Amino acid sequence: MNIAEARTWIAQARSVAVLTGAGISAESGLPTFRGPGGLWRNFRPEELATPEAFRRDPQLVWEWYDWRRSVHAKCEPNAGHRALAEFEQRVQEFLLITQNVDSLHERAGSRRVVHLHGSLWRLRCMVCGGEEENTQVPLDPLPPRCACGGMLRPDVVWFGEPLPQAAMERALQAAYSADVFLVAGTSSVVYPAAALPHVAKQHGARVIEVNLETTEMSAMADITLRGKCGELLPQLLPADF
Ligand code: OAD
Repeated sequence: MNIAEARTWIAQARSVAVLTGAGISAESGLPTFRGPGGLWRNFRPEELATPEAFRRDPQLVWEWYDWRRSVHAKCEPNAGHRALAEFEQRVQEFLLITQNVDSLHERAGSRRVVHLHGSLWRLRCMVCGGEEENTQVPLDPLPPRCACGGMLRPDVVWFGEPLPQAAMERALQAAYSADVFLVAGTSSVVYPAAALPHVAKQHGARVIEVNLETTEMSAMADITLRGKCGELLPQLLPADF
């Protein structure tokens, strides 16, 4: 592990981009997707997280998302989220790119955030396409309805759906211009998000990975830090921050 070198790179960087995954929220009590206790170990994505599943049984899909919203509502940001919010204050050019659908980065104080996979707290109308923020837990009625009468869906990206274009464009721009690209708490198996560190490296960034274990991208990272986000990310803040 080379925390001191990673800290120096970040301190000297003009532009930093960060990609986070479910691992950063694990210490807040939220389950990850893969690995022990992961959501995809206990639930079948094709029954809950595809447009076909929603068309087939919107009630079942909504019950699952309503349950996830209730679990998320009880969680608090952890030291890893807070450290990234601190980075944003200090680095000239900064973007936090998250695959997470929770709002823990924002609740920790991050403002320069793009959500590649949407948000559990935003709903989108299947009929008029209107979007709304909604923090009601539990939702009533279920499935929820838009003012136009149409059924609302969670504004998250399901398997087989494209990523929100504006979010992906911002993420790519950040990858092109980053001096340091930090990847924290993701298995790096879901594309196109997992391509971002590779894009950044091709454009000259140094890549730092923070994860409990070896992942698909560990071999290409310039520094890999093994351990918990909540313990390692605060240590990456340069001392004079
Ligand atoms: P995964 O569940 O695939 O991976 C979580 C990663 O976090 C693993 O590599 C763990 O080793 C690591 N990890 C767990 N706890 C950690 C901790 N405290 N500190 C550091 N690392 C830790 O989750 P994602 O990579 O986010 O997509 O999954 C990517 C996408 O797959 C999700 O956004 C979701 C899912 O299907 C959609 O919903 C579209």
